[in-house]
Amino acid sequence: MATLRPLDPPHKGIRNALSQLCLAAGSTSAGDPNGVNSLVMLGVDVLDFLDEHADFEEKYILEPLEERVPGAGADDHAAHQELETKVQGLRDLLTSLTSTLSQDTIDAFYTEVVLFQAAYLVHMAQEEATTERLMMKHFSDEELIGHQIAIMGETSFESLLRMFRFIAPARRLDENLQVMQAFRANAPEPAFTAVLTTLRSAMPAAQYNALIDALG
Ligand SMILES: [Fe+2]
Ligand SMILES: [Fe+2]
Repeated sequence: MATLRPLDPPHKGIRNALSQLCLAAGSTSAGDPNGVNSLVMLGVDVLDFLDEHADFEEKYILEPLEERVPGAGADDHAAHQELETKVQGLRDLLTSLTSTLSQDTIDAFYTEVVLFQAAYLVHMAQEEATTERLMMKHFSDEELIGHQIAIMGETSFESLLRMFRFIAPARRLDENLQVMQAFRANAPEPAFTAVLTTLRSAMPAAQYNALIDALG
């Protein structure tokens, strides 16, 4: 039985990302073009983050699990297809939001984000209650770490920064410290500095300062 929870970091990051998008969608006025622009950029980032997570989940959770527990990935796979349709609907609304700059479109987007957030929160809770437990039962910590390393290897640096931006503020100091110490030991200095810059703007000052103090 593994002790690592492979879905904990990405799901905490997704809960953070969806909360940010809900907050921004509800507080943006059509009369503020810069605000609308920021909302659209955040929306694209959040939806790209979700799509990337679904792809990694298909490849490094559902596929390996199916090999050891045939049929165990079917429900999540079907849920991913349904959610992807909703993501595409949100992307279409984001596009019309840019072209129309109308408050009605922003309000419609807000309503859809809220419903999507509710559906996605249920999806993640179901994955954690069933799929993640099966992964921990049928895979060792070493195998799960191997999946994480493979995911990192397939992630562009831009996507990696987005992962840090959404995931790190949602995790505990000891968890972030462990990740950042490993990253400092293995990544080139400019990459480490770029991650710190990302974290400084993504985290409340007290959380960021506590991490810097702990890193020494
Ligand atoms: Fe999923
Ligand atoms: Fe997930």
